[in-house]
Amino acid sequence: MKPETEIALETKDLHVFYRDFEAIKGISMEFEKNKITSLIGPSGCGKSTYLRSLNRMNDIIPGAKVTGEIIYQGIDVNKPGIDVFEMRKNIGMVFQRPNPFSKSIYENIAFALKRHGMKNKDELDERVETSLKQAALWDQVKDNLNKSAVALSGGQQQRLCIARAIALRPDILLMDEPASALDPISTAQVEETMLQLKEDYTIVIVTHNMQQASRVSDYTSFFYLGNVIEYDETRKIFTRPKIQMTEDYVSGHFG
Ligand SMILES: Nc1ncnc2c1ncn2[C@@H]1O[C@H](COP(=O)(O)OP(=O)(O)O)[C@@H](O)[C@H]1O
Ligand SMILES: [Mg+2]
Repeated sequence: MKPETEIALETKDLHVFYRDFEAIKGISMEFEKNKITSLIGPSGCGKSTYLRSLNRMNDIIPGAKVTGEIIYQGIDVNKPGIDVFEMRKNIGMVFQRPNPFSKSIYENIAFALKRHGMKNKDELDERVETSLKQAALWDQVKDNLNKSAVALSGGQQQRLCIARAIALRPDILLMDEPASALDPISTAQVEETMLQLKEDYTIVIVTHNMQQASRVSDYTSFFYLGNVIEYDETRKIFTRPKIQMTEDYVSGHFG
């Protein structure tokens, strides 16, 4: 990667084991600030495992072990003794299936803020509003903030989950196939939202949808069997990859 670029997050020799099975086999990779990086590759090759390890979500999986370094703001956040709750405020995650709480739209966002100590009503109101605006949902819900979040459409629910994640003002947003459960119109809205968010956030997204990777991302990393085969600017990966296996995968010859 170009030396003048700013790196938001980096892994060094990251390995992930599920008991005896090595799912990630020593990945060293840098993520550039305010860019979108896609992780692509066939099912089962470790994309979700790698993504989850970036904010220590594998900690809660029995038998999982993550070795190597995850460097965020100069600190290895994979070390013991890291305050994972605080770290996840900076490195947030949006999951594959929209998972709003069965609370009001307002409370979905205010809940985490309160848990992190924000009590002032005006401050909460302001943060709820700006987060919904950033997630491109405000205009649709501003008159119904007390309505149940589960009554929203799938696409709206996912944008609410994005709003909930960004309400904590993270630096980095991890997204695991955030549009795979959505219809094409909702998918387009989520992609549009991501492109707007990149001004303020660094985004790492897992997608099995190659059109999506080429539409939204600046960089693309091709995963295969727990390794990164090729990592480059998205247009290079999709037009002239250096490695034959990448070429075969992006042209639909396997996977
Ligand atoms: N909780 C788990 N326990 C044991 N093995 C797992 C677990 N999660 C994933 N794996 C295995 O790790 C490998 C990578 O899975 P995953 O990261 O989900 O791949 P991808 O997201 O690329 O489809 C697969 O072989 C999968 O079966
Ligand atoms: Mg996955």
